[in-house]
Amino acid sequence: MSGDEPIKVALLGCGTVGTEVVRLLTDQAGDLTARVGAPVELTGIAVRRPNKHREVPEELLTTDAVALVDSDVDVVVEVIGGIEPARTLLLRALRAGKSVVTANKALLAEHSAELSEAADASGADLYFEAAVAGAIPLLRPLRESLAGDRITRVMGIVNGTTNFILSAMDSTGAGYSETLEEASRLGYAEADPTADVDGYDAASKAAILASLAFHTRVTASDVHREGISAVSAADIAAAKGLGRTVKLLAICERVTDTAQDGSTTESVAVRVHPAMIPRSHPLAGVGGAFNAVFVEADAAGEMMFYGQGAGGAPTASAVLGDLVAVARNRVVSGRGPRESAYAALPVRPMGQTPTRYHLSLDVADRAGVLAQVAAVFAEHDVSIAAVRQQGRVDDASLVIVTHAAPEAALRSTVDKIGGLPVVREVVSVMRVEGEEQ
Ligand code: HSE
Repeated sequence: MSGDEPIKVALLGCGTVGTEVVRLLTDQAGDLTARVGAPVELTGIAVRRPNKHREVPEELLTTDAVALVDSDVDVVVEVIGGIEPARTLLLRALRAGKSVVTANKALLAEHSAELSEAADASGADLYFEAAVAGAIPLLRPLRESLAGDRITRVMGIVNGTTNFILSAMDSTGAGYSETLEEASRLGYAEADPTADVDGYDAASKAAILASLAFHTRVTASDVHREGISAVSAADIAAAKGLGRTVKLLAICERVTDTAQDGSTTESVAVRVHPAMIPRSHPLAGVGGAFNAVFVEADAAGEMMFYGQGAGGAPTASAVLGDLVAVARNRVVSGRGPRESAYAALPVRPMGQTPTRYHLSLDVADRAGVLAQVAAVFAEHDVSIAAVRQQGRVDDASLVIVTHAAPEAALRSTVDKIGGLPVVREVVSVMRVEGEEQ
């Protein structure tokens, strides 16, 4: 392709992100031409209801997405979201050798294998920086900048809605339901907040992050998922009392087991759940609707990526970055880095994943109570890291933090402790992250 010929782009979807993509393509046309080495020409925008899109050029709008994908375009940009019709349209584009830029985390978390295979078969690019953490350059650093290193852990706040709610609960002391209502009123939570508050959005992102970090295919169904609806004001208060705060974390880690003969086996554990982290941890300071991802690699050490994880313009920024990259590749008839799943590490079930727990209990204050509680931990081979007891009039508040142990052992321990006659109430149970094991 010569530098005079335009790179023709089809846009599928024109909601908040698509509208910003069109604006940036128009406003920055001159700069984009210089950066790509050829003009970037938007040839069509597929939408369901053309009369709803007055802010983009009317002559570009079409309701026939298939015809637009099949037309003479080089790149298809997809910002429709959801599985269908996005999956069918993108497979069609890739099979025809057209490069794809997508922001569709749900699609990638379920169907990255067939999308990558289609891209490989035709030699097309498949870029998706906007699918995780909006504007934050994160996937390219994992896929390219850290390609020579060994990533051990990726832990992040990848959902702005839940971070807004948990940050507000931390600062006001209010409960979950009233804070969710406030978030909806302020426009930080969708009318149906299920995908965010139940952790589905974060789980899709965790699958994408784990796949890139560990060169292993991980899908959303491999991710252990818990949302924030069970986080109570008591949990937040317990965290505060211990110098911690509660965050919904997406945690992707490499777990190494060493056998008695010294041989090692590796697996990956991927989970989304609320957890207490120390207020001194870099992720604790990430407030409001912001996202941040903490990455640990053998040679590079610790890194944090921080910024706006949602919204039209921030997400469009990531889409445009990918668009420039794939357009450049087409100008030089090349192809960017492709997906790599060569390591094919097994995904470890949550029950076998090492975690740490915090427990806050109201117990009777008399001789032998601590011993009874400690015996349950010992019975399940769970080691206690710290205990704090505060006496009151006729009972006591007991706070216990464990060392790392398999999740299943910790759950059984908590269940049994909750049934002890000396335990009056289990005030708070939450995992602890971001500290020494
Ligand atoms: N709904 C997401 C959030 C943004 O609250 O962060 C899109 O993934």
